[in-house]
Amino acid sequence: MNLNSFMPVHLVTGAGCVRSSAKVLSGLGSRCLIVTGKHAAKACGALKDVTDILDENGQRWVLFDEIGQNPQLTDCMAAAEKAIGFGADFVLGIGGGSALDAAKCIAVLAANPGMTQAQLYAFDWANKPLKIVAVGTTAGTGSEVTKVSVITTPEGRKKSFHHEAIFPALSLGDPTYTMTLSPMVTRSTMVDVLAHCAESFFSRSANHLSQCYAVEGIRLLLPVFRTMAEEGFDSIDYETRETLYCASIYGGLAINVTGTCFPHTMGYLLTERFGIPHGTACAVFQPDFYEYNKAVVPELAQQFLERIGCSEEEYLALLEKLTPPCNISMSESLIAESHSRWINNGSMAKSQGTFSADMADAVLRRKFGSAQD
Ligand SMILES: [Fe+2]
Repeated sequence: MNLNSFMPVHLVTGAGCVRSSAKVLSGLGSRCLIVTGKHAAKACGALKDVTDILDENGQRWVLFDEIGQNPQLTDCMAAAEKAIGFGADFVLGIGGGSALDAAKCIAVLAANPGMTQAQLYAFDWANKPLKIVAVGTTAGTGSEVTKVSVITTPEGRKKSFHHEAIFPALSLGDPTYTMTLSPMVTRSTMVDVLAHCAESFFSRSANHLSQCYAVEGIRLLLPVFRTMAEEGFDSIDYETRETLYCASIYGGLAINVTGTCFPHTMGYLLTERFGIPHGTACAVFQPDFYEYNKAVVPELAQQFLERIGCSEEEYLALLEKLTPPCNISMSESLIAESHSRWINNGSMAKSQGTFSADMADAVLRRKFGSAQD
């Protein structure tokens, strides 16, 4: 028996949940640093909803809206300075994974003035992070319910840290905010959800509970995927947006227990070096991940298909149809240069069997290895 888990987030979901959570929000502090990207939080209406409530509650706020697609540690440090200068006692991120992960990082940095990159990643945190609020605007990351933050270091590496102190105190998931997402962002984020669920299901750290989350996430996704494979991605109604958001939360709950496996680790390389959006970069390895598991743990792979209610043929066909294009080619020197990052990597080690650095090289070579040095 294993249902071990820890997820201490006050999660409120559904249309209008920012307004209906006004009272809970009022208890989280008196001065708020709001963290967003440049446009999405404004365009979808979330920023206005949040600031209206903060104003009504008499909570003061200041905005940092310079978080890019892959949040940079340097931007988080600048935001933390702003939080310290303002005397913020909580940080509220509005966005997809980038803004939410940045908010978690900023909450740590702002509570520990002068913290270095080394101290951040070594958990050399003298003070507890500020309280964190997450307002989701995409159906992908699941960061609303995880203790994970993925930040790009000044060396250009996407690097995650996991700590129970960075669970949001409050997460608000209103699918209305995802209505304005472009078809391409919708696609990339929803295949990220699939990646979370599939990688979690096959993780060595999976338990009964995490597999239930993972299976439920995919069972919600599949009917949407089937429809989109036939009809395209251009008009997605609210009900479908709600389903996708639900699935993203299940994906977050699943990886909160297990973490991810090799597609996420390898996907980071595609994002860093080729600018491939995160979800696409992880989804592109899902056929390889499935085939690998089928070879190493065939019974588990069979159980996976049975539980999600999908044939192997259909699963692979849907992956192919829905994963956005990733037309890159990789030189032998980049494959060689990346080799060391696959060694002693925590997420790689969560894969079943032994997924070695040589196997990672072989996957990259097979998929992308056509460019000459
Ligand atoms: Fe992801």
